[in-house]
Amino acid sequence: MNVLIIGSGGREHAIAWKVAQSPKLTKLFIAPGNAGTAAVGTNVPIKVTDFQAIGEFVKSNNIDLVVVGPEEPLVKGIADFLAANADTKNVGVVGASAEGAQLEGSKEFAKQFMQKHGIPTAAYRSFTKATVADGKRFLETLKAPYVLKADGLAAGKGVLIINDLKEAQESLETMLDGQFGDASAKVVIEEFLSGIECSFFVLTDGRDYVLLPEAKDYKRIGEHDTGLNTGGMGAVSPVPFCTDEFKQKVISRIIEPTIRGLHDDNIDYRGFIFFGLIKCGNDPYVIEYNVRMGDPETEVVIPRLDCDLLELLAATAERRLAGMKATMKAQTAITVVMVSGGYPESYKKGFEITGLDSVTESTVFHAGTKPDSGRVLTDGGRVLAVTSLADGIQPALDKSYRSIGGIKFDGAYFRRDIGQDLQKL
Ligand code: AMP
Ligand code: GLY
Repeated sequence: MNVLIIGSGGREHAIAWKVAQSPKLTKLFIAPGNAGTAAVGTNVPIKVTDFQAIGEFVKSNNIDLVVVGPEEPLVKGIADFLAANADTKNVGVVGASAEGAQLEGSKEFAKQFMQKHGIPTAAYRSFTKATVADGKRFLETLKAPYVLKADGLAAGKGVLIINDLKEAQESLETMLDGQFGDASAKVVIEEFLSGIECSFFVLTDGRDYVLLPEAKDYKRIGEHDTGLNTGGMGAVSPVPFCTDEFKQKVISRIIEPTIRGLHDDNIDYRGFIFFGLIKCGNDPYVIEYNVRMGDPETEVVIPRLDCDLLELLAATAERRLAGMKATMKAQTAITVVMVSGGYPESYKKGFEITGLDSVTESTVFHAGTKPDSGRVLTDGGRVLAVTSLADGIQPALDKSYRSIGGIKFDGAYFRRDIGQDLQKL
């Protein structure tokens, strides 16, 4: 099979790395890719939202399967675009239709979907500029902290959690006034749920699904979960507090009703679903859906797969997942993300990364890098995700931190406490 992966982060490198191991693969392309994906396939300089160019590339390179990494092209309708075009309509696509992608593209759509299908989530109401006064009164009926969410995609920044009522009411007004552009023309206000977060992932063809390994990520820039939110500074899989009993609840109360709901609502969904969950007491609630894999969660989920990922991806696109299963390694995978100095605020790019060849006991997934005549340069806030597998969290961490010791670039920063909280549970 000829495969095109859309995206350029650590998630796409991890998917490309695994697909490259499949005996079913003929040629692998990544658009636009990074220095890491260039080592396992061929990068093509096409932007993830340039559907026309993607369609032409698919046709002229006899691509059999397109795997879409990030949410933006999905929400903008890449699956529908390829299906509507005579030249590409028979190509397999792993990626939800625009309608299905609303599970991530609109918080209100996701909340309505969960309510309709009886899926546990925080109680909510949504407001627009016309109903801002109702929104402020609604906040008065809730207990602090207050959770305000921009309805649309806001690059992971659209959720505010505020302790003070007056401040929450002011923020509601600022959001509705366009703080996050069109994404906050509507704002969802929801009940605060207190607990510990984890993420589950499936591949679904809209009727059947395969469960992938679960993961926990570390969102804050600072150690002990302090400072600004980031895309993710590390991840661990499996998650010790996700016991078999808890997993069964996730499957029966959340995953299966979600897949049934998509099917009953006639939504064409062939792709990944990322269930962002919170464990309150012993019960799971959905914090959010994403229509893509997580990053850096993919960098621990994929290395734990002990099966042919390309086989599962092709079956997803061709709606033949029934009876399939993702076999997983029992080992623990952990990843530690090395970021540019200054991230998640402003940072510089273009520094040379050295020492990548010194790594022997980890796999280094590239998140924000670019090749430059034989050298590898930093090209983003999150630069590398250093993943290790071992029998337990600590030995896996030891491997990643030893590997990081040999990798250098100007301003490199990483958290030294990934996974520590899980060892104390
Ligand atoms: P989201 O973009 O919906 O994942 O929200 C970002 C983060 O805000 C989540 O990972 C949670 O840490 C937090 N969060 C979102 N909704 C809630 C809620 N209802 N209760 C508590 N924390 C929340
Ligand atoms: N690491 C969180 C995400 O990918 O949304």
